[in-house]
Amino acid sequence: MECVLCLLLFLLTPVHISANMPEPCELEEDAVHCVCNFSDPKPNWSNALQCMSAVDVKFYGGGRSLELFLRRLDPSTDLKEYVDIVRSLRWQRLTVGGVRVPAPMLFGVLRMLGHSGLSELTLEDLEVTSTTLPPLLEATGPDLTTLRLRNVSWATGDAWLAELQQWLKPGLKVLNIAQAQSLNFSCERVRIFRALTTLDLSDNPGLGDSGLVSALCPQKFPALQVLALRNAGMETPSGVCNALAKAGVQPQVLDLSHNSLRNTVSPGAPGCVWPSSLNSLNLSFARLEQVPKGLPSKLSVLDLSCNRLNSKPRPDELPKVDNLSLKGNPFLDSGTQEYTRNSGMGPACARSSLAVGISGTLALLQRARRFI
Ligand SMILES: *[C@@H]1O[C@H](CO)[C@@H](O)[C@H](O)[C@H]1NC(C)=O
Ligand SMILES: *[C@@H]1O[C@H](CO)[C@@H](O)[C@H](O)[C@H]1NC(C)=O
Ligand SMILES: *[C@@H]1O[C@H](CO)[C@@H](O)[C@H](O)[C@H]1NC(C)=O
Ligand SMILES: *[C@@H]1O[C@H](CO)[C@@H](O)[C@H](O)[C@H]1NC(C)=O
Ligand SMILES: *[C@@H]1O[C@H](CO)[C@@H](O)[C@H](O)[C@H]1NC(C)=O
Ligand SMILES: *[C@@H]1O[C@H](CO)[C@@H](O)[C@H](O)[C@H]1NC(C)=O
Repeated sequence: MECVLCLLLFLLTPVHISANMPEPCELEEDAVHCVCNFSDPKPNWSNALQCMSAVDVKFYGGGRSLELFLRRLDPSTDLKEYVDIVRSLRWQRLTVGGVRVPAPMLFGVLRMLGHSGLSELTLEDLEVTSTTLPPLLEATGPDLTTLRLRNVSWATGDAWLAELQQWLKPGLKVLNIAQAQSLNFSCERVRIFRALTTLDLSDNPGLGDSGLVSALCPQKFPALQVLALRNAGMETPSGVCNALAKAGVQPQVLDLSHNSLRNTVSPGAPGCVWPSSLNSLNLSFARLEQVPKGLPSKLSVLDLSCNRLNSKPRPDELPKVDNLSLKGNPFLDSGTQEYTRNSGMGPACARSSLAVGISGTLALLQRARRFI
């Protein structure tokens, strides 16, 4: 059975509701933002109707499973009237979080949203259970420009990106995947992301240089301009350079901040040639004690702020750079005590690095739990 109605059933199904319950949804006065929090065990689902006219809509499920909606579905229902409702939605940005959802239901919702003008979709803290339908001939889902996934797990394992992709029209420009269970994609099944200019794989501390090649599916991101690998377990700049070369990506902007980078050129990676397109490199918060060797020879922007450089880099250590940031390194202000107290970094840098430390720890805990 194919589930194309589930979203609306999710919103419209009457459930017995006790009186005096707080209303789960709130439409803000601007009539643009609407947030529903259905974490109550028996929420008033029809309260969500007030979000029908909003532009920016968020639904949180408090970790509930939506499997019962799939069971309650009547396959003989006429879809046409629902299609008209979806067409009339003003939704442009939708966030769905905190639910366990069977894959046929998720893809049913995407297919239904193909009739809407939705352009940005965010899924967070989602568990996609069960596997999916056979591949489609034609993408029938929404025409998204931006897709963000954070802490989404998939029963299909490494094939998830390929399966999700076939429900999206091909114009996706920005893809963010954080706290992923697997980025070891089955690349041969992934189609080319022709329009994708920004790929953000930040906050995947288990990825590492070696996992980067399969996460950057070779030749599947020909239009990539911005690659963000913040807090992604990157080990050396040269390891990243090699992965970029193997995957054939040519970014202009590369963010390697918040990785513990080693100075060395990794063995087996001698003399990697950086993409000639690269003009902005972010190496801030990377615990660097020296400028790494083997950086691109010329850059517009190089951010080395909030590292542990104890002496001012000599010109021959640095690439030719128009816009260089060295702030928050101990050599600039070695007189103050702040640096030792803040793990060797400048005072301006301490707060931000702490925040990432915490998110990194959470992610590690999360991975540890999976292996138990
Ligand atoms: C939803 O409500 C529950 C209980 O009221 C609360 O603990 C939770 O943080 C809320 N979730 C969101 C995303 O606001
Ligand atoms: C549920 O929400 C709807 C729409 O906001 C409202 O009309 C109805 O009175 C609510 N039911 C209860 C029992 O609160
Ligand atoms: C990730 O999502 C799961 C639900 O799928 C949730 O139980 C868990 O707490 C989330 N982890 C984090 C770090 O938010
Ligand atoms: C990634 O997937 C391939 C098969 O597609 C497998 O051989 C390899 O061991 C996997 N790597 C990791 C780190 O899981
Ligand atoms: C580099 O990354 C840091 C931390 O992620 C950020 O605060 C900073 O603005 C970035 N620098 C540039 C030049 O984009
Ligand atoms: C240097 O880069 C920073 C961060 O991207 C920017 O704010 C600043 O305007 C740039 N300066 C010049 C001279 O380009």
